[in-house]
Amino acid sequence: MNTFTMSLSLLLLLLVYSTQATHFFGTVMTYYPGDTHSDQPFVVNFRYKMNFHECNQSDIWGCFTYNCLQSTYILNVVEVVKKESSGEWCQTEGHMIKQYSSDAPFEVVLDGGNWIDGIVNGIVSWRAVALVELRNRSDTGKANSSPQTTIIPAVRVPSNCARDFVLLAFDPDGDVVKCRNGNESLSECNPCTPPSVLSLTPSCTLSFRPTDSSNEGPYAVQLVMEDFPRQNITLTQTDGTQTNLTTNNAIGKIPVQFVLRVDPPVPSCTKGLFLPLFLPPTPANGAQLYTPVGQTLEISIKAEATNSTISELLYSGPYTIFQNKTGPGEFILSWTPSESEAGESYPICYVVQALFGVVKYHSDLRCVIVTVENVYVAALSGRISFSLPFTADNVNSVIIQKIKEEVEKRGLPPDASLRLVRGDQVLTTTTAPSYG
Ligand SMILES: *[C@@H]1O[C@H](CO)[C@@H](O)[C@H](O)[C@H]1NC(C)=O
Ligand SMILES: *[C@@H]1O[C@H](CO)[C@@H](O)[C@H](O)[C@H]1NC(C)=O
Ligand SMILES: *[C@@H]1O[C@H](CO)[C@@H](O)[C@H](O)[C@H]1NC(C)=O
Ligand SMILES: *[C@@H]1O[C@H](CO)[C@@H](O)[C@H](O)[C@H]1NC(C)=O
Ligand SMILES: *[C@@H]1O[C@H](CO)[C@@H](O)[C@H](O)[C@H]1NC(C)=O
Ligand SMILES: *[C@@H]1O[C@H](CO)[C@@H](O)[C@H](O)[C@H]1NC(C)=O
Ligand SMILES: *[C@@H]1O[C@H](CO)[C@@H](O)[C@H](O)[C@H]1NC(C)=O
Repeated sequence: MNTFTMSLSLLLLLLVYSTQATHFFGTVMTYYPGDTHSDQPFVVNFRYKMNFHECNQSDIWGCFTYNCLQSTYILNVVEVVKKESSGEWCQTEGHMIKQYSSDAPFEVVLDGGNWIDGIVNGIVSWRAVALVELRNRSDTGKANSSPQTTIIPAVRVPSNCARDFVLLAFDPDGDVVKCRNGNESLSECNPCTPPSVLSLTPSCTLSFRPTDSSNEGPYAVQLVMEDFPRQNITLTQTDGTQTNLTTNNAIGKIPVQFVLRVDPPVPSCTKGLFLPLFLPPTPANGAQLYTPVGQTLEISIKAEATNSTISELLYSGPYTIFQNKTGPGEFILSWTPSESEAGESYPICYVVQALFGVVKYHSDLRCVIVTVENVYVAALSGRISFSLPFTADNVNSVIIQKIKEEVEKRGLPPDASLRLVRGDQVLTTTTAPSYG
């Protein structure tokens, strides 16, 4: 192949790429500051979800400020999280680690083609913005982490049923997380028209009230999630400049965009008939789960629907998650966090989908937040002696504390939790570390 034909085929690929980019189902962007103990101070770990009709469609986050344009990739991977089985949508997760020339705040922007056709609230093209704050916070002594959340690309509700979508709004720094609709004057979306059929509270609950058939169809939901400090704080840049923030000033912000489908009425809004109803042991919405690096976390999800057929579990989370169907309406989501995920918290959200002919019905949306614990292998040499009988009471109250003190002397961080294990049976656990 000569040079001329090669550049021609590259051009054709680019054209194909841009004409495909018209089936957008929203996005979510989150970030953690990179490891400040390394010799690269301004490293950011971005994880974003990108939702399209096809798994091979994607877009690239751009930037406008000097600092951001100077950035270099350390890692850039995109993998499929979940493809809806009828081919409605595909969610991919991107993990990019980038290095920046300074810790000045900057925005990253996703600005490409069009949402899916027929959006009822008049949205055509997509635009999503995240504000990244890397300056040192006076309250935590480190850079900000964004709120952590996710969502599936399309959630459904029949037009005659009320439903609350309680979005996950977890903040690793313990900040107050608030939601608002994207704002035109801040160019967070284009246009920003919120769905008329939804009302949003600052605590991130989207409420749908029953409406008539004229309001059916797909809506583009374009939210912004922001973290606010719990007290006045000062942000200090490495060049020495300082900025004071009050509890009314957002530190960072992330976009949360997805499609809400308002479907034709269902014969009954009672959950468990046509609309799937979650049953135990499905974790409660907002549950906080902990798992050590390298250990597989299994989340059991169970639902029933007597007048429709539960067909699949729709979920959003780290792309390394996988699912098993273990029975009718029974699923297990499994995730084994890796070393690079230690100390961070990851959102997982899910909805059970049922079919009645070709009509799809969704359960409520539920989310959990999974905190990945560091594992310290304490090879305790020597002995710790106890002049106490080895009873459950003593183990819980005295013995584990004494072991913890001993292990701390040998370098265990004081905020770690400790499990006493015999075989693979957990005997007791000290208080879990508090992440804010
Ligand atoms: C993307 O995937 C679709 C369906 O799987 C396929 O028809 C299309 O050719 C693919 N496009 C590219 C550029 O690979
Ligand atoms: C942030 O500030 C604290 C003191 O307020 C300091 O101990 C810490 O080293 C600073 N962190 C960085 C990354 O500069
Ligand atoms: C958008 O945000 C700006 C700045 O926060 C505010 O002044 C304006 O009222 C907002 N507009 C709407 C429509 O909410
Ligand atoms: C926070 O800062 C604001 C503005 O500087 C000030 O009015 C307020 O008193 C401060 N609050 C506290 C608790 O220090
Ligand atoms: C920030 O607040 C501190 C007091 O907490 C004050 O001394 C300083 O002048 C303030 N800086 C700015 C830029 O307002
Ligand atoms: C649901 O199914 C039951 C049993 O098959 C049936 O008796 C009932 O009428 C159905 N309910 C509706 C609202 O169709
Ligand atoms: C889930 O399915 C995978 C193959 O898809 C299998 O390797 C794994 O053992 C299954 N896990 C459970 C808990 O059934």
